[in-house]
Amino acid sequence: MKTTIAEVGKHVNESVTIGVWLHNKRSSGKIAFLQLRDGTGFIQGVIVKSVVGEELFEQAKHLNQESSLYVTGEVVKDDRSPLGYELQVSGFEIIQEAHDYPITPKEHGPEFLMDHRHLWLRSKKQHAIMKIRNEIIRATYEFFNDEGFVKIDPPILTGASAEGTTELFHTKYFDEDAYLSQSGQLYLEAAAMALGKVFSFGPTFRAEKSKTRRHLIEFWMIEPEMAFMDHDDSLVIQENYVQHLVQSVLKNCDMELDVLERDKEQLKKIKAPFPRITYDEAIEFLKKEGFEDIDWGDDFGAPHETAIAEAHDQPVFITHFPTEIKAFYMQPDPTNEKVALCADLIAPEGYGEIIGGSERIYDYELMKKRYEEHGLEGPAYEWYLQLREYGSVPHSGFGLGLERTVAWISGTEHIRETIPFPRLLNRLYP
Ligand code: 4AD
Ligand code: MG
Repeated sequence: MKTTIAEVGKHVNESVTIGVWLHNKRSSGKIAFLQLRDGTGFIQGVIVKSVVGEELFEQAKHLNQESSLYVTGEVVKDDRSPLGYELQVSGFEIIQEAHDYPITPKEHGPEFLMDHRHLWLRSKKQHAIMKIRNEIIRATYEFFNDEGFVKIDPPILTGASAEGTTELFHTKYFDEDAYLSQSGQLYLEAAAMALGKVFSFGPTFRAEKSKTRRHLIEFWMIEPEMAFMDHDDSLVIQENYVQHLVQSVLKNCDMELDVLERDKEQLKKIKAPFPRITYDEAIEFLKKEGFEDIDWGDDFGAPHETAIAEAHDQPVFITHFPTEIKAFYMQPDPTNEKVALCADLIAPEGYGEIIGGSERIYDYELMKKRYEEHGLEGPAYEWYLQLREYGSVPHSGFGLGLERTVAWISGTEHIRETIPFPRLLNRLYP
């Protein structure tokens, strides 16, 4: 009976056949232990000379790492293994013998591993991170569908910038200039006026010359946008969403969190509502913490975010940033026009900003004034202004960076390991 490692629990004490790769092995004179993987998981295959005979046993002993085979054996319970089962091998058939697999069980440097990303993905740790990434995506669709959101797919090729002009990827669109999307937000606002509550999930591009453990050139963003919702309503959705992501990973990726040696207690603590501090309070706090150089009007860098995060064991909302350091579309606070109705959500344990969001300007005249101040004109922006002309309503939205969220929840130090094929400042391959 053909099955997969993930399904062996349904075949205890039965003989099964599984297509696998040899991950690792060790052997003595009479018995060999094969670490096998099939994509769905990892299992130990035990092969005993007296059971399979001299010839097959010798063949098994000489199998190289990453050789592919069909292995047949009986599934038995084994409480010591993370999976709970092992395979008592009765036979195998080699599909392809691999030679000199470059990634050996010894330590390799990050550049070497990144050069071999197409193979590195097969490792136990990378496998676990990709499974957690997948669970976060699954839980995202679950959460927003349950909340009555409609998934909307904004274009990738766009005529205008959504988040500032310095980080745009330029391309030709036949005879016109086009840019790869930095954010689908402007289109999502249009969609929210048609469907009420919408969300997108797609790739976004930032030509940022930042080489940090938090920045990718191409990253995936989840962007919800909600008509008739103000800034505070949006924060409630955000914290419930993030709590749902954490709980889903705890529930469905226990084995993966163990592989990554993630401190699960840190994740179990995460519970909405999350603390909220204003930008003003954050500045005051940072000055007290010894960041004497920071002044009102400055944006926060990684050390500032980390200091704020370390004062809490929950994600923290920093709200009401100065309008001048935020995007043109943010609604000013009616009680203090110098600050915007916006928030960044800072993850615990130093993983940085995972969400940026705000209430949007919906007054036609004010938006027009912002266009003048920011020099926004032409067909790329005309349609967006029109949204303020025909039944404009208060609305809010936010963007969650998938890879930063995966980094935090999985406890992965560097963002490059949270996406299958990272595009980094100096890396377009593999
Ligand atoms: O704060 P940002 O720039 O917000 C927007 O783009 C809004 N238009 C979203 C919206 O309101 N619909 O980006 C949102 C999130 C950040 O909080 C961060 O998690 C992630 O996207 N992000 C990056 N992740 C990886 N690499 C980068 N270079 C990133 N830039 C932003
Ligand atoms: Mg931001």
